[in-house]
Amino acid sequence: MDTIKSVNEMQQFVIEARASGKTIAFVPTMGFLHQGHVSLLEEGRKRGDILVLSIFVNPTQFGQGEDFEDYPRDLQQDSQFAKAAGVDIIFAPDASAMYPIGYATYVDVDGITSNLCGASRPGHFRGVCTVVSKLFNIVQPHTAIFGAKDFQQLAVIKRMIADMNMPIDIVGMPIFREDDGLAMSSRNVYLSDDHRKQALVLSQSLNLGRELIAAGKTDAASIVSQLTDNIKMQPDADIDYIQICHQLSLEDQVTIDADSVLLLAVRFGSTRLIDNGFLREA
Ligand code: PAJ
Repeated sequence: MDTIKSVNEMQQFVIEARASGKTIAFVPTMGFLHQGHVSLLEEGRKRGDILVLSIFVNPTQFGQGEDFEDYPRDLQQDSQFAKAAGVDIIFAPDASAMYPIGYATYVDVDGITSNLCGASRPGHFRGVCTVVSKLFNIVQPHTAIFGAKDFQQLAVIKRMIADMNMPIDIVGMPIFREDDGLAMSSRNVYLSDDHRKQALVLSQSLNLGRELIAAGKTDAASIVSQLTDNIKMQPDADIDYIQICHQLSLEDQVTIDADSVLLLAVRFGSTRLIDNGFLREA
């Protein structure tokens, strides 16, 4: 396994790999890897001759006052995870290589970025789409693997790929959870023991939502209201959003159907957690 920091070197590597007929699978991350990331790498290992992992804490997707500086970083531990998962190349550029002085180009996806995380984190998806486009141009993958943990991000990337005619197969992987249901996240390390316990209310809300639907409820607003009351029972839970949306448009739904996804963002202290899941089997 090699680690490449230079953009030119990375591009040169893939040009040669492609010329010799190799396929490239790619997993973009911000590092501080956990089993959720590993599940994407394992899928990538099956889907390409060469598996590239990028580790880059992308400054343009963090808003003012968000945790860019504090975002956890551990390249040494990440390398061990990567090696065990069969990664061939870690691409870990510096911010100055990705955004040199004079940098001026951004990628904006309209529509599905206006709701949910797009509404509460202005500019976030502009930063994500910009860096993912750049990474795609540098790594030139045949296939790229993303997690459904960031459900809106996955939908936005699919929209961008289709709209910009990027010849890349986007694969979405299920949310990888701790045994007690908490969705794995690099940000979980911020949680105190008490907040870690309270945070279980996110995955429990998904189960409660499914139970309400199994019991015959179909009205999205009343389900959201019951789940909101349930989350508020946790003393430090500060709800950013709790919404039921159509899986493709990400627009709010009035009535539950097989396309309904429940999406949640809840803060515990300064830590913002997200989770989501389908509410009804197709
Ligand atoms: P990061 O938060 O590091 O996540 C990298 C990838 O891992 C994303 O596709 C995310 O959805 C996936 N992932 C995270 N936790 C997961 C879990 N518990 N189960 C399954 N997949 C999980 O998302 C980003 O980085 C950035 O926005 C990025 C796309 C790299 C652009 O900077």
